Amino acid sequence: IKNIGLFTSGGDAPGMNAAIRAVVRTAVYYDIEVTGIRRGYDGMTKGDFIPMNRKSVSNIIQRGGTILKTARCDNFRTAEGRKQAYDELKKQNIDALIAIGGDGTFTGAKVFGTEYDIPIIGLPGTIDNDLLGTDFTIGYDTAINTVVEAVDKIRDTAESHDRLFIVEVMGRDSGLIALRTGIAAGAEAILIPESKSGLEGLFNRLEHGRKDKTSRIVIVAEGEEAGGAFEVGRLVQEKFPHYDTRISILGHIQRGGAPSCMDRVLASRIGAAAVEALRDGHRNEMIGIIHNEIAYTPFEHAIKHHVDINPNLLKLVEILSM
Ligand code: F6P
Repeated sequence: IKNIGLFTSGGDAPGMNAAIRAVVRTAVYYDIEVTGIRRGYDGMTKGDFIPMNRKSVSNIIQRGGTILKTARCDNFRTAEGRKQAYDELKKQNIDALIAIGGDGTFTGAKVFGTEYDIPIIGLPGTIDNDLLGTDFTIGYDTAINTVVEAVDKIRDTAESHDRLFIVEVMGRDSGLIALRTGIAAGAEAILIPESKSGLEGLFNRLEHGRKDKTSRIVIVAEGEEAGGAFEVGRLVQEKFPHYDTRISILGHIQRGGAPSCMDRVLASRIGAAAVEALRDGHRNEMIGIIHNEIAYTPFEHAIKHHVDINPNLLKLVEILSM
């Protein structure tokens, strides 16, 4: 391997910069060139490349977002778009790729890696934590800490006004952000797509649970089946008009901010491991950490979409919010 093309793609996640830094510095260590590809697959099809060196990744480990920028690219879904991308890579003498992103990024990488003879290694970068092959994705820890900080603030005002708040968090079709933050913020109930009984459980609690509570927080994952925080709020208000209910949608605040220590260390470890994996002949795999060990998972498994929810954690919410 002589020249690695490095890019971030899909939704940004805190810690992507730490991963970029780790890839570049490890490549320099092994005497491999790195070419930054700006705006993900879109930049690849347009030849939007920049050479990277030790200095171009100085002072970025603590920064949120991605210095390489990111995008979602429809053109890369077409065979013609992928051909353009391959031609641009060849022109630049790029002979391997490291992709930092999530599900969509690895779906593209999987197709590209079978159509063209170029080794690709993926790094899980998404706040959603919805990939198989790693205990945690880069950005998840920072995002859940952001959510908990925000919900703690909402709790202050909820408590002062004796209100019930329905807080919607991100996660696309995964409830993993909602599950952990709900536990950490002492939620009354958590509604996630993986559990069908969330709304019923909430109604049950409001009907039969303790009546002397002074504030209540319900965490709703954006992909929840009942239809998001506004719909859940409407149903609650209809059934329990005596509760003073408010809705809060946290939105993209969850994607920003300085990465946590956990995310920086994760990104640094797997960023370095990605370069070493390419040197060792790995291809079309995502690098993660499972039980504190580097793990290699083929793209097609990583994107399988059934990261299990631990039912004990849902039960915990019920027990602890009594
Ligand atoms: O995948 C990360 C994520 O933030 C999801 O949680 C969310 O559903 C989606 O991206 C939002 O995407 P966009 O910023 O393109 O609207």
